[in-house]
Amino acid sequence: MIDIAAQCAEEAGKILVRNLEKPRHIEHKGSLDTNLVTETDKEVEEYIVGELRSRFPDHDILAEESGSRGSGSEYRWIIDPLDGTTNYAHGLPLFCTSIGLERRGELVLGVIYDPMRKELYSAQKGKGAFLNGRQLKVSQTLTLRESLLVTGFPYDIRSNPDHAVEHFKEFLMEARAVRRLGSAAIDFCYVAAGRFDGFWEVSLNPWDMAAGILIVLEAGGTFTDFRGEPTSIYGRSMLVSNGRIHGQMVDVLARNVGSRAASSA
Ligand code: IPD
Ligand code: CA
Ligand code: CA
Repeated sequence: MIDIAAQCAEEAGKILVRNLEKPRHIEHKGSLDTNLVTETDKEVEEYIVGELRSRFPDHDILAEESGSRGSGSEYRWIIDPLDGTTNYAHGLPLFCTSIGLERRGELVLGVIYDPMRKELYSAQKGKGAFLNGRQLKVSQTLTLRESLLVTGFPYDIRSNPDHAVEHFKEFLMEARAVRRLGSAAIDFCYVAAGRFDGFWEVSLNPWDMAAGILIVLEAGGTFTDFRGEPTSIYGRSMLVSNGRIHGQMVDVLARNVGSRAASSA
């Protein structure tokens, strides 16, 4: 199954690269003018869903643009055809395809392909995480001060959900630097590869996280909610790190909420 998922992601990458130079038709999704969808999101999703359905007709599917379908199979594919749509819509070459697989609700396989760098990230439960066949390990960084962090903002950031703006400010003051790439799936891969030490975000969807969380965990990383409690790809807040700085990140997230509550009291 991992070979088929990888083939699908690589073929999806070819469509993404081919369409990048073409004129793009951009639409707004839902009521927010920040949430975009292009015809390429839909074309890639149709391709992946078609492939997986023909190979595994009994499996359930949850895909970002077309929703969920299935009949209660123990397997469920979770697909983000184009993660980084805003980048893509502006011609910024930082985006990827993400395909995860759950078995009885547990993540068992994940594949993320970045077609611009030709980087294929993959993981299987209990078998490690890999980048183009090379095993991945999270960073060894011990302190927040020496850490390079990444975050993302949900499409409703203007309402500042879960103090997202304050968290960003606090980490800017605490870490070596903070980045914002615009593709959560790539952010997860870079934590797994040790390029980032930690990544936090609120309001991600299961298709943003499914493959990436497994890749981080299989590279030795830690995954919790903002309070440091166990969570899942269906949770609201998400924190992943190399493990060593995890507690320090939880402290900043907690302190921040507390200080905001105190100042607004
Ligand atoms: C988005 C990206 C972005 C994150 C957003 C996601 P999309 O996914 O992963 O980095 O900040 O929360 O919704 O819409 O490009 O698939
Ligand atoms: Ca996404
Ligand atoms: Ca998407």
